[in-house]
Amino acid sequence: MLASLRLVSALVLAVVLSTSSDALHIRRDAAPITLPFARRVNATGAAKLLKIDQARAKTLKSRSMGASAFKQSAVFNVPASNQAVEYTTTVSVGNPPQTFNLLIDTGSSNTWVGAQTLTNPFLGSGTTQPTGELVEVTYGSGFVIGQEFVDGITLGGLTIQNQSFGSALLSEGFDDVDGILGIGPSDLTCGTLVPDVTGCIPTVTDNAFSQGLIDAHEIGISFEPTTSVGNQNGELTFGGIDPTKFNGPLNFVPITSTSPANEFVGIDQSITYGSGDGTTVLSATSGITDTGTTLTLLATDAFNTYQNLTGAVSDANTGLLRLTPDQFANLQSLFFKIGDNTLEFTPNAQIWPRALNTLIGGTSDFVYLIVNDLGSLSGEGLDFIDGMTFLERFYYVFDIANSRVGFATTPFTDATAN
Ligand SMILES: *[C@@H]1O[C@H](CO)[C@@H](O)[C@H](O)[C@H]1NC(C)=O
Ligand SMILES: *[C@@H]1O[C@H](CO)[C@@H](O)[C@H](O)[C@H]1NC(C)=O
Ligand SMILES: *[C@@H]1O[C@H](CO)[C@@H](O)[C@H](O)[C@H]1NC(C)=O
Repeated sequence: MLASLRLVSALVLAVVLSTSSDALHIRRDAAPITLPFARRVNATGAAKLLKIDQARAKTLKSRSMGASAFKQSAVFNVPASNQAVEYTTTVSVGNPPQTFNLLIDTGSSNTWVGAQTLTNPFLGSGTTQPTGELVEVTYGSGFVIGQEFVDGITLGGLTIQNQSFGSALLSEGFDDVDGILGIGPSDLTCGTLVPDVTGCIPTVTDNAFSQGLIDAHEIGISFEPTTSVGNQNGELTFGGIDPTKFNGPLNFVPITSTSPANEFVGIDQSITYGSGDGTTVLSATSGITDTGTTLTLLATDAFNTYQNLTGAVSDANTGLLRLTPDQFANLQSLFFKIGDNTLEFTPNAQIWPRALNTLIGGTSDFVYLIVNDLGSLSGEGLDFIDGMTFLERFYYVFDIANSRVGFATTPFTDATAN
């Protein structure tokens, strides 16, 4: 009896000691936190998908994500339109907790809520403290102006303390989501507060890491191609990767050093069309990976080459390139050379899901391509956007600690789902 009590107290002591020594350091035993998310397609209206993506590209290139909505109004050129394809997840904020459905965005880094209410639910109740600042962020298809607050934010069972976030007072372009979970580089938040007391804002990933809630300062993202309008098949992992989501080696490349792509989750790549040596579509250059862009956009000169090689014609109803089924049968793979590795982007990966053609103004007689025109020539430091349609085919890791980006093939890399 005594012996067993001693054993128990020794065990308790060991646990207490190890817990308190852990508290002095970043915990190294925290499991990654996974957060499921959903895809919703709402792209009704001719050419809307492309217009929204091109407006976003223009905004990203002019580096206005981190600047005042008013200063940058010149590039805010898509009026009151929704995001066409949304990847959303549910988070809860404050105490008592309020839940919000947020867009997941690696191309911006502010987190904010309240687009549906535009009244401040945090004033006068609960634990949420105002910072005394306003937040302003411009996106390609909208903007937000809100009040900045600090409180806990809960994502998939993980509560991040002292997270600074916005609560919208005025916003446009977010008709059916509550706001954004910005998980890009935190420097994109610099200059978004007025008056700028707080300075740059650590993202949820930054705070989860500095508070020892996750082991690794990185996020892993898995999407799968889908042919339905709403589908919860995405998974965001904070503080690690999910090895069940990919089957090839995870290869990393450094964040590009070329501006302005280096301010985002930017990489260097080249693209060829067709197997063997193929034909160069895009010479080695810099651009970005972005969960907030639907299409895969190439600088105009590269896009023209791609159009010539595929024989596609521009379709006025959808704004996309289109092929006849016979032309599609001859479509070749694109090969994205990223670092020392080459990722094959199959013909099926290059098309919009045919089951959703009518949703974007197309018909079942044609096959529509998701590769399109960035809207500016190459050589400007942001010459492509590998958007969601690209990221659906590869596991994707943003390793913030080491400023690098990883890709791996998945069971969906070669899928003929579309
Ligand atoms: C789709 O977007 C329109 C506005 O462009 C909006 O009125 C409508 O509610 C949205 N539909 C869904 C299902 O979200
Ligand atoms: C949150 O902020 C409060 C007040 O500044 C501080 O006392 C507390 O230690 C912070 N908590 C964490 C986990 O950073
Ligand atoms: C595309 O093809 C046309 C006609 O063959 C040619 O004039 C044009 O230079 C080509 N453009 C590119 C970018 O390859």
